[in-house]
Amino acid sequence: YETLTVGELAEKLHREPAEIVKKLFMLGVMATINQELDQDAIELICADYGVEVEEEVRIDATDLENYFEGSEDEEMLAKIAEGNVERPPVVTIMGHVDHGKTTLLDSIRNTKVTQGEAGGITQHIGAYQIEENGKKITFLDTPGHEAFTTMRARGAKVTDLTILVVAADDGVMPQTVEAISHAKAAEVPIIVAVNKMDKPTANPDRVMQELTEHGLVSEDWGGDTIFVPISALKGDGIDQLLEMVLLVSEVGELKANPDILGRGTVIEAELDRGKGAVATLLVQNGTLHVGDPIVVGNTYGRVRAMINDLGRRVKSAGPSTPVEITGLNGVPQAGDRFVVFEDEKKARQIGEARASEALLEQRGETQRITLDNLFEQM
Ligand code: GTP
Ligand code: MG
Repeated sequence: YETLTVGELAEKLHREPAEIVKKLFMLGVMATINQELDQDAIELICADYGVEVEEEVRIDATDLENYFEGSEDEEMLAKIAEGNVERPPVVTIMGHVDHGKTTLLDSIRNTKVTQGEAGGITQHIGAYQIEENGKKITFLDTPGHEAFTTMRARGAKVTDLTILVVAADDGVMPQTVEAISHAKAAEVPIIVAVNKMDKPTANPDRVMQELTEHGLVSEDWGGDTIFVPISALKGDGIDQLLEMVLLVSEVGELKANPDILGRGTVIEAELDRGKGAVATLLVQNGTLHVGDPIVVGNTYGRVRAMINDLGRRVKSAGPSTPVEITGLNGVPQAGDRFVVFEDEKKARQIGEARASEALLEQRGETQRITLDNLFEQM
């Protein structure tokens, strides 16, 4: 709440200041027109005029990042950490145009997901999960650069590891260099996939040489960067590549607590004619359930339905799992945070406060008017 002077309160209530002073006097409060009133006094006067002062969601409540990070007290944070268990790594694929990113993603998905999955992929949700040696790996198939730039611009970190695809017949190119700088800035480890090894013109030594100039020195040459020769087209080297992904992830000790309220980041979102707002979310901590009250960026709602990467309906999704959800009142943006709340009312209040704040920001207004909203009924 803000404080108000007697004069300001009188104006809001459309009364003469003298009338307010008189009322205050009757209530046992001696006040002048410029006197600041505390919340209790404001509420007393308003009650007297039959005006209800709605409880207002404080501005810091609209900072979703606080909830994402865990606004819980230290004791609670320690408890959450105690329940941490291993979670799958989240991987993006980056590289120069035509070096084979899409082919690699498809190759991994086709050889690893459709195996034993009758029907296979029925739906594309912008991310998928595979299993290698009994361990899960999540792949984001948004273009790597986009994932890094839009997400990072919004303060979100979703990637644990990046696979840098370099075509062995083409070598290091401008976007290869760009990808390296993105990954370095985000402090995300890089595994190099030297692709198109099936081509007669493939020259992996040249790739190694050129990458040395950008600080990526192969283990064979005394450095600490893992290089894996592959052919995305033929499916050669995919298993070795995935094993290296798991190896690097283990070093990173990726953990999360599946027993807390779900939270994570929007991978992509759109408006569907039939289903309304549809968002692909990556759960980063906790577990997301159907029916959960949720705030997603500047939107909110209740998770109505949840679909996994195989297009199947699921009831819950744990850490590092991508899911598509419906039930939001609007379309959020890629990189937006989402947080589940215990009660729907709170989710709605925060969602609405965030939406109106975003609107004001758009209009270039710096401060949110609070009391004017409160006295709307007048
Ligand atoms: P952009 O999305 O345009 O940046 O390209 P990309 O990196 O996704 O490359 P994409 O997977 O589309 O592959 C480009 C071309 O290279 C296609 O014609 C692929 O068939 C071919 N290609 C990809 N991987 C291999 C490979 O391992 N061997 C050979 N011979 N060709 C490959
Ligand atoms: Mg592509």
